[in-house]
Amino acid sequence: VTRFEAWLLHLANLLVGGTGIAYAVVRYLLDPPDPFASVHPWQGPVAHAHVLAAPLLVFGLGLVFRAHAWAGVQLEVGARRRSGLVLVASAAPMIVSGYLLQVAIEPLWRSLWSWLHLATGALWLGAAVAHLVASRERVPRAGE
Ligand code: HEM
Ligand code: HEM
Repeated sequence: VTRFEAWLLHLANLLVGGTGIAYAVVRYLLDPPDPFASVHPWQGPVAHAHVLAAPLLVFGLGLVFRAHAWAGVQLEVGARRRSGLVLVASAAPMIVSGYLLQVAIEPLWRSLWSWLHLATGALWLGAAVAHLVASRERVPRAGE
C-alpha cells in the first residue's frame, strides 16, 4: 500500500463510516424534534452524504485490491491477516447490499438488505480500525 492509497482509504473509511454511523443514530435513536414529522430533519442530508461518499471507498478498495488485498490472501502474509481477511470477506456483501438498498422497494427486501448492510458495514469498519491499529504493533524479533 502506498502512502497515497493508505490515506485515501483512511479518509474514505472516515467519511463513509462516519456518515453511516450518523445515519443509524439519526434514523434509529433520535426522535424528530417536530412531533408531527415522521423522520428527523437531518436524516435526508446524512443519508445523502453517506451515499455520495461511498464511491470514494469503493474506488479506494479497487485501487488496492489486486496488488495488496488479493496478494495478501494468496501469499499467506502473516501480519494483519485476520483483519485483512475480514475486510476482503465483508467488502462485497457491504457494497452489494448498499446498492440493493437503493433499488429495493418492497419492505421485506428493504429490511433484508438493511440488516445485511448494517452487519457487513459494522464488520468492515471494525476490521478497518483493527487493520490500522495492528500497524502500530512491533513484531518482536527472534531472541527477544
Ligand atoms: C464503512 C462502511 C459502511 C457503514 C458503517 C455503513 C452504514 C450504513 C448504515 C448504518 C445505514 C442505514 C441502514 C438502514 O437503516 O437501512 C446505511 C445505509 C446505506 N448505505 Fe451504508 N455503510 C457503509 C458503506 C456503504 C457503501 C460502501 C455503500 C455503497 C455501495 C453504502 C450505501 C448505502 C445506502 C445506499 C444506504 C441507504 C441510504 C438511504 O436510506 O437513503 N454504504 N449504511
Ligand atoms: C479489502 C482488503 C484490504 C484493504 C482495504 C487493506 C488496506 C490496507 C491499508 C489502508 C493499509 C495501510 C495502513 C497504514 O499503515 O496506514 C494496509 C496495510 C497492510 N495490510 Fe492491508 N488491506 C486489505 C487486505 C489485506 C490482507 C488480506 C492482508 C494479509 C493477509 C493485508 C496485510 C497488510 C499488511 C501486512 C500491511 C502493512 C504493510 C503495507 O502497508 O503494505 N491486508 N492495508
